[in-house]
This record gives sequence, structure tokens and C-alpha cells, in this order.
Amino acid sequence: MQLPVSQHIAAIVPYPPGKPMDELEREYGVTNAIKLASNENPWGPSPKAVAAIGRMLTDLHRYPDGSSYYLTQAVAKWIGSAPEEIVLGNGSNEVIEFLVKAFVGTGDRVITSHPSFLMYQKFVQVRGGDNVVIDLKEMRHDLAAIAAAVTERTRLIFIDNPNNPTGTLIGREEFDRFLRSLPQSVIVVVDEAYVDFVDPAERIDILGYIRECYGIPAVVSLRTFSKAFGLAGLRVGFGVMHREVAALLHRVRQPFNINLPAQAGALAALDDLEHYQRTLTGTADGRAWLNAAVAKLGCTPYPSYTNFFLIDVKGDATKLYEAMLYKGVIVRSMKAYGYPNFIRITVGTAAENERFAGALAECLQDLGYVSAA
Ligand SMILES: Cc1ncc(COP(=O)(O)O)c(C=O)c1O
Repeated sequence: MQLPVSQHIAAIVPYPPGKPMDELEREYGVTNAIKLASNENPWGPSPKAVAAIGRMLTDLHRYPDGSSYYLTQAVAKWIGSAPEEIVLGNGSNEVIEFLVKAFVGTGDRVITSHPSFLMYQKFVQVRGGDNVVIDLKEMRHDLAAIAAAVTERTRLIFIDNPNNPTGTLIGREEFDRFLRSLPQSVIVVVDEAYVDFVDPAERIDILGYIRECYGIPAVVSLRTFSKAFGLAGLRVGFGVMHREVAALLHRVRQPFNINLPAQAGALAALDDLEHYQRTLTGTADGRAWLNAAVAKLGCTPYPSYTNFFLIDVKGDATKLYEAMLYKGVIVRSMKAYGYPNFIRITVGTAAENERFAGALAECLQDLGYVSAA
């Protein structure tokens, strides 16, 4: 077969597919495996969201509302913006795609950090754009190096804040200096998938920058229902941006990108902020408990503003990851991200955290990495 494929498409490395839990359990001979690998919400979705989705099921023969009118209104009210400043996506992933589609063409440059969320670079590759990748400095975005890398071909800068996988946060003043050092021709996209876990006093005032708009680059914030709201499987995220940017993104989106259950579920989740709040409290408590437990085992946990954190296990992380799989605990090895001795774990429920700590103690002992206290 001779397919008419462009070189930049052929060069894309597909996103590594995970295995279904059932398959993993069969392969490793375990039952009741726990997944602490994808930064999901271990407490599940809001019961109100589940009920609202259930009520929608008999309407599945209808197309959804193409403007997601009620959800957009509710998101805008929650954020404190106008509905015209919101663009909903099939996960915040899709809003990343809209931004790249709308602003990046062949040979245009997009700046991202390494390691950070992988999807930015993928979408740029699809468009035939050039990825300019700046290494993190001491696990934080190197804002000076990012600013220095901007040229007249730079269209977008993606910054995940907090960063995935390191969990670090850019300070408000640091961001302000960075933004004001940039030419107005670029768009700064702050991916705030985990900002729900950050104290509001420490968050960047994105809306302030969107409203300021003249004399500084356009700023876009990306948010998601996948993490603190516990709706990763539903696929709803959104961007907050100047209405002129939003109008351009609407031109490149499919009319029915937010499906019917997704609109109903996300809307109901916004009406259950108790569940959301419980998640934030449970995450903070679980993170503190896990930090202490991990340190007691001789590993080094890294401070994080999110529902996940890195652990230096003082030995090969991939071997540890494999050993943990045999205990039915799924974590993430950071070897491929350039941290060969680090794993990343997501905060689980209290029971999951205890199970993780028990399995870690056994695996560290078996592998002879650190001697448990
Ligand atoms: C930094 C970051 N941005 C975006 C996403 C994807 O979010 P969504 O599920 O809304 O597409 C993730 C998911 O892990 C993430 O870590």
C-alpha cells in the first residue's frame, strides 16, 4: 500500500495505550488492583452527576445542544467570567487541539517544557508545526529560557501550572514578570488542569490578564472536569480566554463536541460543590499521610500542589513499577520522563494509600533499594 501520508504525520509516535484493569489483573495474577497512575479522582463522580446522566439516557436518540448553553452558563458563573469567554471541549485535551488548529500552521513554533503534559507537542506535530522544548530547571518551568526562545514564528506557549509530572507551581509575581517580558504576538496557554488543588490565594489571576488584554500577550487558561470533579471518563474540559480568542476557537470545533450525558453530568457536578470540596480535603489529607509514609520508608517525596507527587525511590523506577504491579498497585515510572529513579503516584482513598504504602515497603525490601525503618 502506498498511502499519501505527510512526513510529519508518519513521524508521530502514538500515545502509549494503557491496558484495561481486567487484562492487567489477569496478566499479573492479582485481584482488586488499584490504579494510582493517572491522577484521577479516587472518590468517584458526584452522585448528582451520575443521577443526571441516568436521566439523560432516554434522550440519546437526540443530538446534544451544539452550544452547550446551560453548561457554558454554569461554568462561566463558577469561574466568574462571561459565557463568551468560555470554550468547552471533549476534555481540556480538545481545547488544546482547538488552539493549535486555530493558530499553528506549517513551520510555526510552539514552546513547551520537558517534562510536561505530552499532548501539546502531539497536536503541534499533527499540524506540521515546530516544537521548541525547554527543559525544566530544578523541576520547575524555566520561564527565562522560555521567554528567550520566543521568535517571530512563535505562536503559542504551553505551561502546565501546576506542572505534570513534577507538581510544582509558578508564583504570581514570577508569572507577571514573564508575561510582561513577552511580545504581544504570542498566546500564553496556562494549563490549569490541577489548579483546583491549589489555594486560591496562590493562583494566577487569569481573568485579570484576560480583561487587561492590551499591551500583554493573550492568556488562556485550561481547566477540566477530569480531576477534582471526578469525571475523567465523561470527557469535559474548558478554556477561559478573551472573547475574540474564543470566537476563533468556535470556528474550528465540531458543533456537537460535548455529548449529551457529558453536558448533563458536568452541569450536575457544578451543582455539587460539596463533593468537589470533599475531594480537595481528602486529597490534601491523603497527600500529607503518603508523604510521611514514604519518607518513613527511606524514599524522598517531592512537594506537590496537586493530587499526585513524585517519589525518589533510590533505585530503578521501572523495576519498582513492575514489582508493584505484582502487588496489584499501578503507579507510573518516570524513567521515560528523564527521572530514572522516580515514580509518580496519585493520591488515593485512605485504604488505597495504606495498600500502596504496604506494597511499597515490600517491594523496596525485595529490590534492596532502601532499608525500611
Ligand atoms: C497537565 C494536564 N493537562 C490536561 C490533562 C487532560 O485533561 P482532560 O482529561 O481534561 O483532557 C491532563 C491529564 O492528565 C494533564 O495532566
